[in-house]
Amino acid sequence: MARVLFVCLGNICRSPMAEGILRGRAVSHGWSIDSAGTAGHHVGEGADPRTERTLARHGQSFSHAARRVTLDDFTRFDHIVAMDQANLADLRRLCPATSQHKLALALEPLGGGDVPDPYYGEMDGFEHIHTLLTDAIDAWIPAWSSS
Ligand code: 4NP
Repeated sequence: MARVLFVCLGNICRSPMAEGILRGRAVSHGWSIDSAGTAGHHVGEGADPRTERTLARHGQSFSHAARRVTLDDFTRFDHIVAMDQANLADLRRLCPATSQHKLALALEPLGGGDVPDPYYGEMDGFEHIHTLLTDAIDAWIPAWSSS
């Protein structure tokens, strides 16, 4: 029963997208899955309407309220998955030494790189990150299943 936290900047676009995708995977039933942001600008808001629309199109809708990463998260989760290098750098600063090994980049199994922030773009950017995150999450699942 893996415990996976996805982290982006605002917790309204990329990390809720990843959360919805993993929640929709049959193998993850019973897992603890959540998402959070490194910044607090959107705390309490639902996911961006474009993330909601994309998840709905894939039958992966869920109820979301944006929140910020807390110190507790570093003990409550086994895998803390950052969307880009900036998120990862912020997490590295916040994270206690004993939990640093839990931090990872979402696209690591695809060879690394950042999940592009779609916030200032158009709808196609959201469909693009859905595809990227689906490929990455499906590649992560065997590792998360055995931990
Ligand atoms: P996210 O996207 O980090 O994928 O949720 C963003 C959402 C909001 C902002 C930036 C990125 N913002 O600057 O408000």
